[in-house]
Amino acid sequence: MEKINVEKIIRPHLVNVKTYDAMEAPETLAKKSGIPESEIVKLNGNENPYGGSQKALKAVANTPLHIYPDPNQTNMRMALSEYTGMSPENIVVGSGADELIDLIFRLFISEGDKILDCEPTFGMYSFCSRIAGGEINLVQRDDNFDIDINSVVDAIDEVTKVIFVTSPNNPTGNIATESQVSDLLATGLLVVVDEAYYEFSGQTVQHLVSQNENLVVLRTMSKWAGLAGLRVGYGIMHEKLAKYFMDVKPPYNVNIAAEAALIASLKDVNYLLGNVEKIVAERGRMFEFLNDLPKVKAWPSHGNYLMCEFKENEAERVYVELAAKGIFVRNFNSPRLRDCFRIAIGTPSDTDKLITAMKAIV
Ligand SMILES: Cc1ncc(COP(=O)(O)O)c(C=O)c1O
Repeated sequence: MEKINVEKIIRPHLVNVKTYDAMEAPETLAKKSGIPESEIVKLNGNENPYGGSQKALKAVANTPLHIYPDPNQTNMRMALSEYTGMSPENIVVGSGADELIDLIFRLFISEGDKILDCEPTFGMYSFCSRIAGGEINLVQRDDNFDIDINSVVDAIDEVTKVIFVTSPNNPTGNIATESQVSDLLATGLLVVVDEAYYEFSGQTVQHLVSQNENLVVLRTMSKWAGLAGLRVGYGIMHEKLAKYFMDVKPPYNVNIAAEAALIASLKDVNYLLGNVEKIVAERGRMFEFLNDLPKVKAWPSHGNYLMCEFKENEAERVYVELAAKGIFVRNFNSPRLRDCFRIAIGTPSDTDKLITAMKAIV
């Protein structure tokens, strides 16, 4: 029998697709660096250093695993309705905000359609576009990494379908103002405002949803609620649009442990927001320290991370030396961020370790 060549039958644009540049797991970092996993300071994933709520852990332990989750997400949507103040019909839950981003492509992007991305930003939108066969127009942010609304609007052409706005922006920390979002909504295209770090900024455009069928606000339980490993996020949108999301999502998309953890976390909001407060305070301490170092600039951030800029060709050296000490941050290979890396805010003890290491290296 003739040998089958899978490249001949796979969708042609996926044969050499550029994949997502994902973070390595702690055990991989430990193996590569030769440093025991327990000694690693993992500041490369914007994860919550305090973990999830004890109530979530207990709920997961007591969840029967042999029953499929509720395809209508009734209890999760109710709990999120109470938390956000929006109606359950305005909410759709996904296996992480990542899944909702993917669903946006299923709903809006056919091959050849275009998205606008405000660069530098989170890599998931471009990744999903590449998979969907979409075109990507990377509209550059201005010198302060704020969105340049005129450039975004000028970039719209007849095949543009979706504009992605991350607020706070990952990795630069900037907020998109309500008036900027309103200007983009007026274009009539789908506008996705990714508020994955909302709890660290306190700023949202969710109130614009009722008047704008073309707005999707994305949130996640990964960051403020410490549930990144369970994969659960949600979107807030007009009920008409939410119905389409519910129709195209995989029926049992959010697993039952994630469902239990989400509901339990929303019964422990004060505790979780207490951790958010600690992280925000630590962000302030780290910001001061980094900006006191010679030839280092930390950009102001509304998220649980700081982007740190070095003089030319220094970032890579500092990154490598930090890694050698077991401290892992997130570096970038785009030309604009070549001299930068992003540091997630950890516990005070993580900050102390980072400070000691940075003083020695820089
Ligand atoms: C801006 C932004 N949106 C979405 C996500 C993904 O969230 P989730 O873990 O819910 O998939 C991240 C994760 O880092 C992010 O930075």
